[in-house]
Amino acid sequence: MITGIEDPLAADVVAGLWADPPTLPTKWLYDERGSRLFDEITRLPEYYPTRRETEILEARSAEIAAVTEASTMVELGSGTSTKTRLLLSAFAERADHEGRTFRYVPLDVSTETLESSAATLRVDFPGIDIVPVAGDFTSADLIVPPSSGPRVAVFLGGTIGNFDDEARAAFLHTIAGALDPGDYFLLGADLIKDTGRLVAAYNDKAGVTADFNRNMIEVLRTGLDTRGLYADDFDHVARWNPKRHRIEMWLRARRDVVVDIPILDRRWELAAGTEVLTEISTKFDRATLADELATAGLDVTHTWTDDAGDFLLTLARR
Ligand code: AVJ
Repeated sequence: MITGIEDPLAADVVAGLWADPPTLPTKWLYDERGSRLFDEITRLPEYYPTRRETEILEARSAEIAAVTEASTMVELGSGTSTKTRLLLSAFAERADHEGRTFRYVPLDVSTETLESSAATLRVDFPGIDIVPVAGDFTSADLIVPPSSGPRVAVFLGGTIGNFDDEARAAFLHTIAGALDPGDYFLLGADLIKDTGRLVAAYNDKAGVTADFNRNMIEVLRTGLDTRGLYADDFDHVARWNPKRHRIEMWLRARRDVVVDIPILDRRWELAAGTEVLTEISTKFDRATLADELATAGLDVTHTWTDDAGDFLLTLARR
């Protein structure tokens, strides 16, 4: 955060809009409307990752529960998703058979999201002890509550791809530091594949991803009470960066844009054709990911893919 600016959105905007290239932090894509649009994205024909990861978990959750023998599952950036439920069912069933209790620790920045999803899960999984924790899982002081048995931290969806190389290394280091020897880390990551399919997944025919990306402009417009900033003045651009093996989402100005931000006492000018970076989605190959995990002190014990080989689930042991 920029010193002297208390509003985190304002601080990010000041740090990002005048940078080269202009960049806006991905997390601002996920306000209520953005989260709803992302949900819609997961059901699009072109967007395969959610379906593929679900397929892997349908096939492997019981095996994951058996291998890890975990008594606690900590989910980083939790949800009420189908994927979480598949894991919870498998862990709960196993714990039940062995006469142990199982605990689920959803970790999220949003207290509201945590409380509402915990309430739903308590109804559906009465045997599981659900202990929500509010917090930022990227912060260095990440705390995973102690447990009588092994713990498994899970990070699904391929969100690891949103970090750049440096932030990803720091994140994996933080995870390893929060776990004890013998604990596990379960990681979902999207694999490098045909460029056409990758680009299509982030540039769907129905235009939902374009709306999702342009929603960033709405978040700025309403959050900072801007003058002259309109979502319609930006085109959605999704392209593959082969050198950094990642999809990049940009917003490209359709005309010269002049934005006044009275609360910051600033004017932002963007020439027609200039692009603002809003999200990176890095894609992986298994060996490189295993190396990165090992560097952080997490040793890969199992990897699983879906039948098409699109998505990768990696289990690593601290
Ligand atoms: C939620 C970060 C996994 O990178 O694929 C989907 C977000 N952005 N379409 C991804 C996203 C555009 C998604 N993650």
